[in-house]
Amino acid sequence: MEESKPAFEKYVFVCINERPAGERVSCGGTFCGKELSDKLKEAVKAAGQAGRIRVSKSKCLDVCEEGANVLVYPDNIWFKKAEVADIPAILEKLGIKL
Ligand code: FES
Repeated sequence: MEESKPAFEKYVFVCINERPAGERVSCGGTFCGKELSDKLKEAVKAAGQAGRIRVSKSKCLDVCEEGANVLVYPDNIWFKKAEVADIPAILEKLGIKL
């Protein structure tokens, strides 16, 4: 093992976990996690920040009922009940001016 500094300044984990109907709600099934992940990644790239901020798809973060869920590290920010319409506000929080 080698220890190193992270390759990106910030990591944005967007839960896209999906469960079958009838099971616990899920960010990628019940809520908009998948679309949010794709569009947030596109927006960060369009803003020229893809080398600084990594948007990564995540599996369950165990706060499913609050979905869609987005975690930002190292800022330690949890965006819950996030919608695609919240992308501008998320970008602003990431230090991206639109
Ligand atoms: S399915 Fe997203 S937090 Fe559990």
